[in-house]
This record gives sequence, structure tokens and C-alpha cells, in this order.
Amino acid sequence: MSVREAYNRWADQYDHNNNRTRDLNMQCLRRAELPLAGARVFEAGCGTGLNTEYLASQAEQVVAMDFSEAMLKRARDRVGQPSVWFEAGDVTHRWPGNDDSCDLVVITLVLEHVGDLGPVFTQARRVLHNGGLLYIAELHPYRQLAGGQARFMPEGSDTEEFVPAWNHSVSEFVSVALAAGFDLQRIAEPAFEDDEVPQLLQLWLCAAFDAERK
Ligand SMILES: C[S@@+](CC[C@H](N)C(=O)[O-])C[C@H]1O[C@@H](n2cnc3c(N)ncnc32)[C@H](O)[C@@H]1O
Repeated sequence: MSVREAYNRWADQYDHNNNRTRDLNMQCLRRAELPLAGARVFEAGCGTGLNTEYLASQAEQVVAMDFSEAMLKRARDRVGQPSVWFEAGDVTHRWPGNDDSCDLVVITLVLEHVGDLGPVFTQARRVLHNGGLLYIAELHPYRQLAGGQARFMPEGSDTEEFVPAWNHSVSEFVSVALAAGFDLQRIAEPAFEDDEVPQLLQLWLCAAFDAERK
């Protein structure tokens, strides 16, 4: 099953499943001190819009993209603000939006499903103006090495489906980001309250100054 097919099948249950990683990610986003006031935000891999709703409540405008039609439909049904546009698209291909048109790019719980991170960071840097911020929160590689992987139980089945995933180390995230024109501003590795092992890797990456860019 492809990543897209898996999320199309998972979509109806995604918001209601017991999913501590999803919930921790939501909390972390809300505490991430993102510069949302007046911001033009691009959310790549918005899923069912759990975070789009929050971003839209704070920012000036949000473009939210996903390649799963079923996840995107839930997001559209959830978030009705006129300041939010939804787009169907693959984060590894060219994103909608002009160069330098965004203040903030948000990507959460998406990149474990992407093999080659380079095109994603290149697109994020393209749409961000100089000094714009890329915020990432992903399943921590320690968790992946211990067998953590997005999974769900399809309706009517008693067998879990694993969504295809790739493991990216912390140094891979940072190296690819630097190569794409970002500076590392801040890094954090939040864990569940009852556990010492980090669950998420959070990165705040600033679009480095480029004299040929705005
Ligand atoms: C675990 S959900 C996370 C959704 C949301 N970002 C959140 O934090 O709740 C992962 C989402 O990433 C999307 N996704 C994965 N790979 C993608 C790709 N290459 N292009 C676009 N969306 C992708 C999936 O369709 C799914 O909706």
C-alpha cells in the first residue's frame, strides 16, 4: 500500500484513534512560539486539519496542502475560514505559491513518509522570504529505530497496516536543511511525561539571507 492509499484509508479514523504522538505534536505546535500574528503560512501535509484550524485562528492566511484526498476532505470540512486555502499536492513536487510568498512553513508528522528530504526543504526555502521560518516536528529517529511507525487498523480488519516510512537521523535533517539554505535556530526533543526517550524531533529553521532573494 502506498503512503497516499494508507492515509485515504485511515482518514475516517485518524482524529479519533488513540494516538499519543498526534496529541503531543498538537500540544508542541501550540507551545512552539511561532510568529503567527499577521503571518502567511504554508502547511505541508496538513492531514485532517487538526493543526490547520489552530494556525488559521492565529495567522493572516494559510495554504494547507496534502496528497490524500480523504484527509484533505476532512480538513476542508473542519476548517471553513475564508483565510484558508486547501490544495491537493505532493510535498516532494513543486508547491503552489510564488517564491518569497510565505512567512512561515509548518510540517508536522509528514517527513517519515518521504524518502528524499531534499526537494521538500528546497520548496520550503523557495516559498519563504529571507528570514522566514520553517517549523518541523517529526517522530524522533530514536523512536523509529525502536520500531515506531505510523500505523492503523483498517475498518473490519484485525491486522494493523503500517504506513510506508523512512528513517531520517537528526544529522540528516540538519544537513539537508543547511544545504537548502536554512540556518538552525532551535532544536528540541520532547518526550511523553511518563517516558525519558524523546518522541518528537522539533526543528526551527530560519531561511538564511540570500542577496538575490527578497
Ligand atoms: C500523520 S499525518 C499528519 C497530519 C498533520 N500534519 C498533523 O500533524 O496532524 C501525515 C499526513 O502527511 C500526508 N503526506 C505524507 N506524504 C505526503 C506527500 N508526499 N505529499 C503530501 N502529503 C503527504 C499524509 O497524506 C497525511 O495526511
